[in-house]
Amino acid sequence: MTKGGIPSTFIDEVRAKNDIIDIASKYMSLTRRGGGFWACCPFHSEKTPSFSIKQDGQFYKCFGCGESGNVITMVMKMENVDFLTAVEILAKNVGLEMPTDTESDEMRQRKIQRDKAYAILKETTEFYHKNLLNNPESEQAMYLKRRGISKEMIEKFKIGISLNYDALPKHLMQLKFKPEDMISAGVIGKNERGGLYDFYGTRLLFPIANGFGDVVAYSGRAVGDNIERTKYKNTPQTCVFNKSEILFAYNFVRDLKKERMLDEIIIVEGHIDVIMCHQAGFTNTIGCMGTALTTQHARKIKNLVDNVILCLDGDNAGVNATYKAIDTLKEVGLNVKVVRISGAKDPDEYLKKFGTESFRELLMDAKDCVDFVLQDSAKKYNLEVNAEKSKYITEALNYISKFSSTAEQEIYLSQVQKLVKIPIDALRKSLHAKEEKPQQKEIVEELNENISNRFIIDSKIMLLSSLLYKKISNLDEISGLFTSNDELSKLYRFLVQKIEANADYNVSTLFDNFEISNNSLIDQVINYVFPSEDVYDQYLRETIKRVKLYELKQEKEALTKMMNESTTIEGRFAYLAKIQEIDEKIRKEK
Ligand code: CTP
Ligand code: MN
Repeated sequence: MTKGGIPSTFIDEVRAKNDIIDIASKYMSLTRRGGGFWACCPFHSEKTPSFSIKQDGQFYKCFGCGESGNVITMVMKMENVDFLTAVEILAKNVGLEMPTDTESDEMRQRKIQRDKAYAILKETTEFYHKNLLNNPESEQAMYLKRRGISKEMIEKFKIGISLNYDALPKHLMQLKFKPEDMISAGVIGKNERGGLYDFYGTRLLFPIANGFGDVVAYSGRAVGDNIERTKYKNTPQTCVFNKSEILFAYNFVRDLKKERMLDEIIIVEGHIDVIMCHQAGFTNTIGCMGTALTTQHARKIKNLVDNVILCLDGDNAGVNATYKAIDTLKEVGLNVKVVRISGAKDPDEYLKKFGTESFRELLMDAKDCVDFVLQDSAKKYNLEVNAEKSKYITEALNYISKFSSTAEQEIYLSQVQKLVKIPIDALRKSLHAKEEKPQQKEIVEELNENISNRFIIDSKIMLLSSLLYKKISNLDEISGLFTSNDELSKLYRFLVQKIEANADYNVSTLFDNFEISNNSLIDQVINYVFPSEDVYDQYLRETIKRVKLYELKQEKEALTKMMNESTTIEGRFAYLAKIQEIDEKIRKEK
């Protein structure tokens, strides 16, 4: 079995050699309590530790926010890297070489291509940056000065300039890079005569980095009065740049998170907005670069924090973008606040006009996104006209039901009530009607299922937890109970496979093989609390019996249904015989 091209035996070895307590202590301060290790959860802010790390099971679980995982997911989250990179970091930590022979040719080829692009982009960034430092009187340098961008920011963001169209290709050729690689890195173009030219000729360059700080693209701004040129020329999609994943300055904010507890990110539109925010000390600012935020962007943000402040431009386009961004960010579970810039067109102008303190106040006053929508969308309608009022109510209730908790709903409803001046009871009724209609059927079905099912699911959780922790041996007895394709059956098969192969296994193995979210069934298996030792055996026997009886009854029910549907006498008799067999089994079990 392999994962991402790496054999699972290697992953097991990496996990076995990296003790979770050892790794956790690199990221957080641990205290020993009641035979276990505890820390303040790195995934949500808290003052008293509810983050438990279990050495015997080699896993962690936060009783505050529900995050859980093993040593690999811990590194993934803390370093903000993917699975393979986390394995690589941990392998290096214990002196293990990553197996390379398992990579496919195609993967190897792609990696070589990417490494070439990174090298070219690194050289190009240096080249542009030196151009700027060596030409302080150039039009582009003067532009930066006029905008008030400091030397420190020019350094931090490695801002650069292109002076002409041919110096860059010449420079890269001297360094023996191949034209096709320069083109695929997105820095060089080729004209009809086959000549190479600087793709961003004469522009001011803002390098854009990935989460590790490697430059992957540029935004090239036209300066001067050459008005027929587009304002920005951006790197197209390349082997290292996908604009729906990359956010401007994300790398700095990610580094910031390693230095200190970070619980909020500010999102602005433009490059200069980001830079000026950093310059003013708001170093937790990132830029969406004028494009709509994607779910991938939102997930990346959620990897770092739970709270964001949207601070887009004050114009209509900015407000429309804010509405869209709220949906996308909320969808991944972020708390979203909104700042509406007024008196200036964007954060940069606001900072210049009103100063840092005033901007700080603006951020402190940021409105919860539902609040923002309720008040802002009211402006779109003439609430004196009934038809428009009703449209507004629909829109407002939609947002309330989508994005607020029951406790918050009352507050929002009273806000709407003040604007539309109709009784709050009426609003409450329509809100509940909106929420209940589509769900009603599901709830009823769920309830019916719950009564018989919940007990059985709990029983199955108990059995699997026994397999996992107590390594019970009466496997034969329960083998027939996990035959479907649900998560618990998958877990059963996984554990049995490990037991039969005599493999060493513990809880931490599960996190590599299953998606385990808070309170999912497998999470419940992991955190199952056993009855005391003296009653355990009896409890186990009863549980097995209960599940067996349940499965037998299910089978009988299915057979009865088929018998009733059968159109031949022979068919019905055949089913009847089977049903009698099952009745016999049920009788024995009882
Ligand atoms: N943008 C772009 N292409 C354009 C216009 C804008 O890629 N033709 C992106 C850039 O990332 C830009 C952001 O959208 O930074 C915001 O656009 P805008 O406000 O026009 O530019 P700013 O960089 O903010 O510059 P300024 O507001 O100072 O003019
Ligand atoms: Mn702008």
